[in-house]
Amino acid sequence: MTAERDESPAGQADEPTPAFTIQQVDVEDVRPLRHKHLRPDQPEDAVCYQSDAEETCCHFAARDAQGNVIGTGSLNREDRVAGQPPFGTPGMRIRGITVDDAWRGKGVGTAMIAHLLEYGRAQGIAEAWGNARTENLRFYVRNGFREVSGSFEIPTIGDHVVVALSLLPKGRKKRKKAKGKAAPAPEGEADAPASGGVSES
Ligand SMILES: CC(C)(COP(=O)(O)OP(=O)(O)OC[C@H]1O[C@@H](n2cnc3c(N)ncnc32)[C@H](O)[C@@H]1OP(=O)(O)O)[C@@H](O)C(=O)NCCC(=O)NCCS
Repeated sequence: MTAERDESPAGQADEPTPAFTIQQVDVEDVRPLRHKHLRPDQPEDAVCYQSDAEETCCHFAARDAQGNVIGTGSLNREDRVAGQPPFGTPGMRIRGITVDDAWRGKGVGTAMIAHLLEYGRAQGIAEAWGNARTENLRFYVRNGFREVSGSFEIPTIGDHVVVALSLLPKGRKKRKKAKGKAAPAPEGEADAPASGGVSES
């Protein structure tokens, strides 16, 4: 996986998009922005996710031309267990997506998601998913995810939905039609938060 890449989208003629790059970084590099934008009212260790300690966990930072971290994103190998099927496995959970205020609406978040998905594809991941804040659903849908659960509240953070995106090549998505009726999802499953559902994306 390329450690560093210029991710800046082509700028408009009248307003060029400033340059930024996305690199794999240590967890310490993503925590300040996570804290500032995801849990500003909580202690700093509230953004030390359990998954950060996992071997499969990777962190990425978008940096401006001066090297300042302006965006973050993390992922870990984890299957989705809630929401609507199909549950693609192996799964990859996306967490801690943030973009600093001055850089919002300039494509940094979209470039970060694309970077994480490319990483997942290279690892043979079948599905990327996350617990998205409801207010950010449009951002995830624009980036190819679909809403696969009803909304659920994560205490102190707010309403979330599970979003998921298949990374399988198109032909592999289709399943053989089962004989008879498809089994319904277990009761309540569609609305249930994902495993570790008390934590946001
Ligand atoms: C959600 C977030 C990561 C989007 O990053 P971004 O770099 O601004 O996104 P992009 O420029 O690539 O895409 C813009 C889209 O993001 C969405 N968006 C959400 N909040 C936005 C904001 N404050 N400013 C601009 N766009 C925002 C919009 O849907 C927008 O699409 P539109 O052009 O149709 O309006 C960023 O707003 C953010 O860090 N929010 C606070 C932290 C957070 O909630 N993280 C996600 C946890 S699930």
